[in-house]
Amino acid sequence: LLDYIRLTGYNSAVKKVLAVVGTRPDAIKMAPVLKGLLRCPDIETTLIASGQHREMLDQVLTAFDLHADANFDVMTEAQSLAYLTSAILSSLDSTLEKARPDLVVAQGDTTTTMVASLAAFYRQIPFAHVEAGLRTDSVRSPFPEEFNRRAAGLIADLHFAPTRRAWNALLGEGHDPASVLLTGNTSIDAVLDVAERAPTYQPPAAGRMLLVTTHRRENWGVPQDNICSALVQILDQVRDAFVVLPMHRNPAVRRALQAGLGGHPRAFLVEPPEYAEFVSMMKAAHLILTDSGGVQEEAPSLGKPVLVLRRETERPEGVEAGNARLVGTEVEPIVSAALSLLTDPGQYQRMARVANPYGDGNASARIVAAIRTFLGLEAESIAAFQG
Ligand code: UD1
Ligand code: UDP
Repeated sequence: LLDYIRLTGYNSAVKKVLAVVGTRPDAIKMAPVLKGLLRCPDIETTLIASGQHREMLDQVLTAFDLHADANFDVMTEAQSLAYLTSAILSSLDSTLEKARPDLVVAQGDTTTTMVASLAAFYRQIPFAHVEAGLRTDSVRSPFPEEFNRRAAGLIADLHFAPTRRAWNALLGEGHDPASVLLTGNTSIDAVLDVAERAPTYQPPAAGRMLLVTTHRRENWGVPQDNICSALVQILDQVRDAFVVLPMHRNPAVRRALQAGLGGHPRAFLVEPPEYAEFVSMMKAAHLILTDSGGVQEEAPSLGKPVLVLRRETERPEGVEAGNARLVGTEVEPIVSAALSLLTDPGQYQRMARVANPYGDGNASARIVAAIRTFLGLEAESIAAFQG
């Protein structure tokens, strides 16, 4: 055995962590955790990219100078959920069989994350869930993310809750309190880190910039058409406003946005910028309208009011704190919420407070410390997030 250890260099003091990312937000939110893990000499960190996203994932990995040890490259145009699930599961299972990590880590609610938890479960490898415990009242909404995060939570050995509400939800579901840690959201670590060095954005027009993103499955079709009609009405009534809309790469989303807004002289539909540029766009924006989860979380750190283009949100903290308003996907409420913010400076100032209920920038340090403790390694003690 001693010869074997010498020959293979196997060192039981070194623990193996395998992190899995697949989409743009997976990579952004895992980047600060990965940076922390990669700094640990007693942890061998392997990064697996499922390739659920292609260009949008590569962009983030490059921006954070992260290199995937393997990329399953599963993305196809207009991929189905069942295809994604099976393609990622079979590749990840082979990887886990060979790599035999001590822990698998993934974040959030994407198909990649749900599959990572399932693959770890089948191989009886512990699973740590970053951004755990977000909940709505229905497992079907948002679809399929609510199922994905509940499934990941069901079998996680470590749950990193971004907010007190998420922490309470996990304890309410009966998880061992020792396995649930209130950390804050790692998206805030990422945005604070990048905001400091983000370049100054050069807007395509003069006036007040409305930054818009929309891509969520539940908004495909009529809701997205409504969002476009609302934006046209806002632009027609507020002559000093212009829209910058970085388009998600999904062809169905792009077609709808181009059809609804493509001809408007003050609507600028642009390719998805890499993360630092997107952060500089958020800094330059007067108002943000979005159905994105991550953008809702990050905007309060930059003091930008957000109109949430969803019927319900699993991130009510921003609404409760007064940074965001849930405006739905009907034309009239979107238009009237935007017009009142654009014409009432008092209301605008109340929403533009820089205070973030989602994190304090130290989530990843807490997560790395908890992972170290779980693996039996010495860990620094960090005060819990006070959110
Ligand atoms: C996925 C997540 C969603 C998350 C979003 C972040 C699931 C089920 N959905 O949704 O929770 O909010 O990512 O952006 O996990 N495409 C490209 N290039 C890319 C990425 C996507 O061309 O780099 C196109 C492909 O045609 C692909 C389609 O977009 O088939 C949809 O991608 P998919 O990951 O299935 O869904 P998203 O809507 O991106
Ligand atoms: N983002 C980006 N470029 C863009 C749009 C968004 O880098 O063109 C970042 C954004 O700052 C946030 C994350 O991507 O960190 C959110 O991803 P997305 O909106 O695709 O997914 P969601 O958060 O809704 O799951």
